[in-house]
Amino acid sequence: MHVTNDDTWKIEYTKLKPEQLVVEESLFALGNGYLGVRGNLEEHDPLYKPYPWPTIRGTYLNGFYDDVPITYDEKAYGFPESKQKMVNLPDAQTILIQIGEEWVYLDECELIDYKRTLDLKQGFSERFLYLKTPSGYELQIVFRRLVSFAFRELFAQEVTVMSTNYEGPISFHLVLNGDVENYVAKDDPRLASGHAKILRIIQGKQIGNGVLLQARTLRSQLDVFTYMTAWVNVPYEETIEWKQTRFEWVITCRLGSGGVTLYKQNFYADSLRYEKPEDRLVECARDLKEVSFERLVQHQAEKLSEFYRSADITILGHPALQEGIRFNLFHLFQAVGRDRYSNMAAKGLSGEGYEGHYFWDTEIYILPVFMTTLPDIAKGLLLYRYYILDDARQHARIMGHRKGALYPWRTIKGTECSSYFPAGSAQYHINADIGYSFIQYYLATGDEAFLFQYGAEVIFETARLFLDVGHYHDGAFHIFCVTGPDEYTALVNDNFYTNAMAKYHLNWAAKIYDFMKEKNPEALRQLKEKIQLTEEEVRAFQTASSRMALLFDEERNIHMQDDSFLRKPLWKFDETPKDHYPLLLHYHPLVIYRHQVCKQPDVVLAYFLLDDFPLDIMKASYNYYEAITTHDSSLSSCIYSIMAARIGDVEKAYQYFLKTARTDLDNTHKNTKDGLHMANMGGTYLALVYGFAGVRIKEQGLTLRPQLPQAIEQLTLSLNYRGRTIRIDMSHRQTEIALLSGEPLSLFVYDEVYLLAKHQPIVVNRGGQ
Ligand code: BGC
Repeated sequence: MHVTNDDTWKIEYTKLKPEQLVVEESLFALGNGYLGVRGNLEEHDPLYKPYPWPTIRGTYLNGFYDDVPITYDEKAYGFPESKQKMVNLPDAQTILIQIGEEWVYLDECELIDYKRTLDLKQGFSERFLYLKTPSGYELQIVFRRLVSFAFRELFAQEVTVMSTNYEGPISFHLVLNGDVENYVAKDDPRLASGHAKILRIIQGKQIGNGVLLQARTLRSQLDVFTYMTAWVNVPYEETIEWKQTRFEWVITCRLGSGGVTLYKQNFYADSLRYEKPEDRLVECARDLKEVSFERLVQHQAEKLSEFYRSADITILGHPALQEGIRFNLFHLFQAVGRDRYSNMAAKGLSGEGYEGHYFWDTEIYILPVFMTTLPDIAKGLLLYRYYILDDARQHARIMGHRKGALYPWRTIKGTECSSYFPAGSAQYHINADIGYSFIQYYLATGDEAFLFQYGAEVIFETARLFLDVGHYHDGAFHIFCVTGPDEYTALVNDNFYTNAMAKYHLNWAAKIYDFMKEKNPEALRQLKEKIQLTEEEVRAFQTASSRMALLFDEERNIHMQDDSFLRKPLWKFDETPKDHYPLLLHYHPLVIYRHQVCKQPDVVLAYFLLDDFPLDIMKASYNYYEAITTHDSSLSSCIYSIMAARIGDVEKAYQYFLKTARTDLDNTHKNTKDGLHMANMGGTYLALVYGFAGVRIKEQGLTLRPQLPQAIEQLTLSLNYRGRTIRIDMSHRQTEIALLSGEPLSLFVYDEVYLLAKHQPIVVNRGGQ
């Protein structure tokens, strides 16, 4: 059973629920942005005994992929021929325990006591088992594991065994298994349906005090090396055997009254990043040999406290929500890529849903979290987009555009992986989402050099694409045949979100051009030469922006999601059985497309990001679209929460926030087993910061509109903004804004300008009076 206790820095389960374990595998996944390991059980191995319960065993490296062919029976021009797929790597998790002759299997023992913990402050997980074996031996076993933030190749495990009524031989059977497969499921489009086996073993050998397994992906020909080393804290004997696909390493010693502790280090390195991965691993093992599990935990705590210093949010009066937000932040920190090869997969490193692909989720839901906490991580995410700009240029050519770049809808290495274009490649808004986050990053950090060196090129190239895909008709600039964020409506004309974001994007492209011209003409000259950009094109950006079609329905006083949306029949919600949600698993896409029904926000999302529309229109549109939105995507409720706060309905904002804060902890979307919903996790942070605190990062500066729902007594959060740390402390009586570090600045609270300086907090009453 999962209990929310006072210590919301720990997720604790005190009952073993076998059918829930597969969900716990995602919840207890550990990672460091590079390496990720699902929370699988150590003490089971299918070769010894079939798994007694459903499981998806997984270990992954961020950005490490195989290319797998996409087969179509009716393939049209330009459809991607292959896609990347995150690879399930050799499995080093197994530690079987044998007491004398008896194997200790969880399902065969009587469980006397149990506790599974994820320590969010110290970055490790623990399983405590107090059990009685069939022969009546009572054992207390503690498994601990971590994936190191300080040493990215390292996954460390420790197991301590004690007994009150057994003394004698004990063996630990360690397995390093190269015979692994990816998870497939035929009937869920959010999972892969084929290509389970994509890794082939090259060799296994013993080196030093450990074993090394080299495996290679079938088509991308990337290598992954795994090195495993282990020892116990009492005298022991060992045998090591290589059995074609796996190492079996048996350590035998004596279990006495003081107990036995096994310590095991597993390292992973790949040929994508390392020229000599094998040497790298041997070096890691040598350097970390003396580093105890305790010491590694200290490193974890240090790295996490650095993150929490700016990221932690305290919610007084609601432990379940407090736990939810801490859990989500922890997983975001664990999963985010920290090098040029990696980004944030839709499920992070916790599972294989969406095959490890990177989507717009990063820019809109994840990046703002890091931009306002650890901006260097946000910068890394943007750099990843910069490094795949050439792929985006090529993709644009395939899609028929003479100029510019079109980012792939889903990808790992940079090429398009979407095989269903109506809800994939047609989502041209991804260009604007990426542009938007470069602009936001610039506004939040003031990093002009980064904007000029990287952002400008991405923004100009993606702006060109909008110019190319759109056209003028009756004096207005239109974009036809694209899909907006709402995937229940596809291939439409003048999608509101796309057009509004492209308008902003094109305008900023021209603005950046002029700004660069003034501030760094030499850099502009070089960039213009590199991408053959002309002044006329830039003026054309501006014109297209100013004439962009944003369709409006006068009668309803709302923006139209696209030119045909409001003419479609409404979805018959009253005739839709409850178990027919999400609709995508029960209705053909065409049926869905023909109706007014939304999977997630479109118009409402544009309102949030651009924050530039009259309140009465935002309210009317919100009410209209809310009524026809299913929130079948986990990217939906958080935006509705933010916008409910924006239009003044903070209690509704709270209701939506409740739905997002614990999506995975409570498995509300019923698919947490396939991995955590990272965008939703980012969205919970956004709902607090951008929703209740009402933060917006705008050209004129930082703006806030704090307001609290009744159920939350106090909300405290920090922001990293332009090199300053700002703390926002909200209660029902007042909001206090304090500058903890950095130079004074002016900011806006409820549209009033204030000067914020150290030791001179701004105090405003609710509503700004
Ligand atoms: C959503 C997309 C999202 C994708 C990956 C889909 O269900 O509709 O907006 O990018 O999931 O998270």
